[in-house]
Amino acid sequence: MIKHDVVVIGGGLAGMRAAVEAAEHGADVAIVSKMHPVRSHSGAAQGGINAALGNREDDSPENHAFDCVKGSDYLADQDAVEAMCEDAPRQIIWLEHRGCIFSRMPDGRIAQRPFGGAGSPRTCYSADVTGLVILHTLWEQLERFGVKVYEEYFATALAVEDGIGTGVVAYNMRNGELELVTAKATIFATGGLGRVYAKTTNGYASTGDGMAIAYRAGLPLMDMEFVQFHPTSLKENGVLLSEAARGEGAFLLNKDGERFMFKYAPNKGELASRDVVSRAEWTEIQAGRGVDGCILLDLRHLGREKILERLPQIRELALDATGKDAIETPIPILPGMHYQMGGVATDKFGATQMPGVYAAGECACVSVHGANRLGGNSLLETIVFGARSAQHAAAYAKKVGEVRPSERTLKAEKDRIAELMARSKGERHSAVRKRMNAVMSEDVFIFRNEAQLKQAVSALAEVREAAKNMTVMDKSKTFNTDLVGTLETQFLAEIAEPIALGALNRQESRGAQARTDFAERDDEKWMKHTLMYRTDNGPRADYSRGVVLTKWQPTVRTY
Ligand code: FUM
Repeated sequence: MIKHDVVVIGGGLAGMRAAVEAAEHGADVAIVSKMHPVRSHSGAAQGGINAALGNREDDSPENHAFDCVKGSDYLADQDAVEAMCEDAPRQIIWLEHRGCIFSRMPDGRIAQRPFGGAGSPRTCYSADVTGLVILHTLWEQLERFGVKVYEEYFATALAVEDGIGTGVVAYNMRNGELELVTAKATIFATGGLGRVYAKTTNGYASTGDGMAIAYRAGLPLMDMEFVQFHPTSLKENGVLLSEAARGEGAFLLNKDGERFMFKYAPNKGELASRDVVSRAEWTEIQAGRGVDGCILLDLRHLGREKILERLPQIRELALDATGKDAIETPIPILPGMHYQMGGVATDKFGATQMPGVYAAGECACVSVHGANRLGGNSLLETIVFGARSAQHAAAYAKKVGEVRPSERTLKAEKDRIAELMARSKGERHSAVRKRMNAVMSEDVFIFRNEAQLKQAVSALAEVREAAKNMTVMDKSKTFNTDLVGTLETQFLAEIAEPIALGALNRQESRGAQARTDFAERDDEKWMKHTLMYRTDNGPRADYSRGVVLTKWQPTVRTY
């Protein structure tokens, strides 16, 4: 049996940052990851990481916090936001001291670019490959501390004894065995759930594993209705073209060649917050002002040198997918599913409601993004809350005695998967996933209304039932991607419903939740978080958690 003080599930930025911090605090820590950490989806993060470094007199952690609160449409918990923004400069220097190669200003200081919804340029970057550069920096630190990585181990369930988290059950993809990974503290850092939609900027591995595992174990998911649609994903394949392009000065154009964003955001134009820009794009397209159903991202005026120096990856991604060179031609883009603002509910130290269980990064909802996340805050969240959750998990592991290995959970998982493998009838996971993707992409998209959401909730309940009865054709034990895909689809089917039900229940428009039938924000009724608990008959909603306000009262939000 595998046993450690602290086990981190997921090897992306939040997971690796957590593991390094736990190791620095003297914990015996390991990572359980379904892929090699350096292949994690965090590597696809492009544009940068926010911090008020003090390079400019007009910026401060307090200004950063205000921008986040406004960006969140006043739903973020302001104490958590302040904690993140205060810690941000220290974390950037921490990365810098560990060899992270940030782009520089001529005088050698870390360069910062403007990003959407920000009062001043505070996004630190490494050209347009920031996530990948940080990922490699953290991988080196894992090696330095000798952190054990259980690679190609797919976590399937939380081990719980006497109401306390005691690790996970994981499927060893190399030999098909289920193993118990016992830990005094478990940190979920499994990233997002983009694959719930048909098209997404997310990698194929973004199947909401940690959210679904926690939800099945009785923990609430928070604010799941808030799904971010990034304004610039490639029309062809949904791949991200970084906000850094607009940060560096790129234009969004409609079919008349008009920079339409100033109609919707007179002050910020293309650099309004993402929810505002995506809605504006969709409105233009719906009004017949798109170009073959798309918007154009025009970088030409930035010039060859700047594009090659600061945006080389997005030029290549566009060239590969479309054959169009952004140096010479505008690129067709669409808003695309990018990020889940909600996740496993935690406090500002990453602790969930269950002792011994923590969550960090996109799979968590600390509530720093509220109803809409600002670009550049996702990488920041992984680093700040990866570290914070590990500090608290390591301290908890020190004081808790030995935990009992949950043989019970292991047996239950073995029985469940044996039953699934023995089944000879049922739908394939690809068919079930396709139905779920269609419902989400058609009915739980940028603009929503009651009729569509009701339809989605009932279709997703049917998907959840179908997902229970799927069949696995490949009965082999070694790298059984059919089985893993089936288990991932079950996870997705479980957590799609809270998104749709949350959107249906919330009768207002706030941040990324845009209801055509409730077009205004309603602070009287809806300054509260959505908590979703799992029941056998679908999610149960709870609205008892209020929003923490410290300095900023809700006001009208314009850009
Ligand atoms: O556009 C981007 O580079 C994405 C950044 C983010 O989601 O924070």
